[in-house]
Amino acid sequence: MGKIRKKTALIFGITGQDGSYLAELLLKKNYIIHGVKRRSSSANTERVDHLFDSLNFSNKNFFIHYGDISDGTSTLSIINKIKPDEIYNLAAQSHVRVSFDIPEYTADITGLGALRILESIKILNLKKTKYYQASSSEMYGLVNKKNSLNEKTPFHPRSVYGVSKVFAYHTTVHYREAYGIFASNGILFNHESPRRGPTFVTKKIVQGLVRIKQGLQKKLTLGNLYAIRDWGHAKDYAISMWKILQYKKPDDWVIATNKENTVKNFVNTTAKKLSLKIKWIGKGINEKAIDMETKKTIVDLDKKFLRPTEVDYLKGDFSKARKKLKWNPTITTNELIEDMIEEEISK
Ligand code: NAP
Ligand code: GDD
Repeated sequence: MGKIRKKTALIFGITGQDGSYLAELLLKKNYIIHGVKRRSSSANTERVDHLFDSLNFSNKNFFIHYGDISDGTSTLSIINKIKPDEIYNLAAQSHVRVSFDIPEYTADITGLGALRILESIKILNLKKTKYYQASSSEMYGLVNKKNSLNEKTPFHPRSVYGVSKVFAYHTTVHYREAYGIFASNGILFNHESPRRGPTFVTKKIVQGLVRIKQGLQKKLTLGNLYAIRDWGHAKDYAISMWKILQYKKPDDWVIATNKENTVKNFVNTTAKKLSLKIKWIGKGINEKAIDMETKKTIVDLDKKFLRPTEVDYLKGDFSKARKKLKWNPTITTNELIEDMIEEEISK
């Protein structure tokens, strides 16, 4: 019997939250994985180090290459060397608040980065290479009605991050239409995990309240408590990325849980799970939460965590993905919080 050829995947953004879960998933599916890591002064591979260890380097199924999607020639050269079956573009300056400070850089990486990869696929004439674009619910931005958002909802981004993702989204559609490339957008709503970066709100809340409970931190300072988000688990969302590229044709897909929560709800649930009894007092920027046992303020607000324009409401209708991809979220927000707390406590 002839050997079955293993599929090869190239992941831009391998060192990030999603890159690490996707790499785990694809290794289990017997892929050969190539990941692109940008040069930094520290190793920055902690989210994928366990994959090296478990593979002991001898399986030769997992490789890391230096690269940067701001650099078109190296991007083209890596794609040319590997000629992957699937490319996942997860690389981005992914922090919305930070995009107000470094807009030009954000547009270059988050927007033009996608163009550089797609243009490489086109120039190299890679007819069989499929492309996944990490599109975002942040593209919806200003929402008129508090309805679940779907693939037909218009975009009105509220940050250069959102604007750049809209550019990358349309570039993906354009390369599909103009050059016949199998290029798909996953419009993913917020997804979190123990591996979430520490400045995103869920990780900041869990880390802060656990440390307060352990007596290692006095206070957690946040911004807008009333933003509504649809929070899923990154592990579930990695599965959707793979399914999107296995579908019979390229398309655009909303991936979400269709459940909503405010930032304040997230604080309350986390506090409750940690047996911290809190009471909210005050209004506006002076709102704060008091620990009922110690009578001390353990959560307060600071204007520096507000954004010049906010995305107030995000809830996703993923019925297309449920029906056609047979994708469903399996981890509830409650379970997500428990998973994040457990990891934080075990540190
Ligand atoms: P993340 O943890 O911030 O990971 C981003 C990845 O991109 C990291 O590996 C980062 O490398 C890499 N990167 C940044 N600049 C790069 C550059 N110039 N060249 C090459 N790589 C670069 O983000 P995530 O949460 O995993 O999200 C993955 C993707 O999905 C991102 O595109 C994000 O915008 C998008 N998205 C995320 C969500 C969500 O809720 N998580 C929702 C919708 C869409 P370093 O480790 O060196 O920083
Ligand atoms: N980061 C942060 N820090 N956000 C805060 C804070 C705080 O101290 N206090 C309140 N928030 C609010 C933000 O204003 C926002 O409304 C909400 O919490 C979520 O913020 P983030 O966790 O930073 O995520 P995001 O929704 O802005 O962006 C994430 O989700 C997008 C998908 O909708 C990122 O992962 C993006 O990359 C992703 O595309």
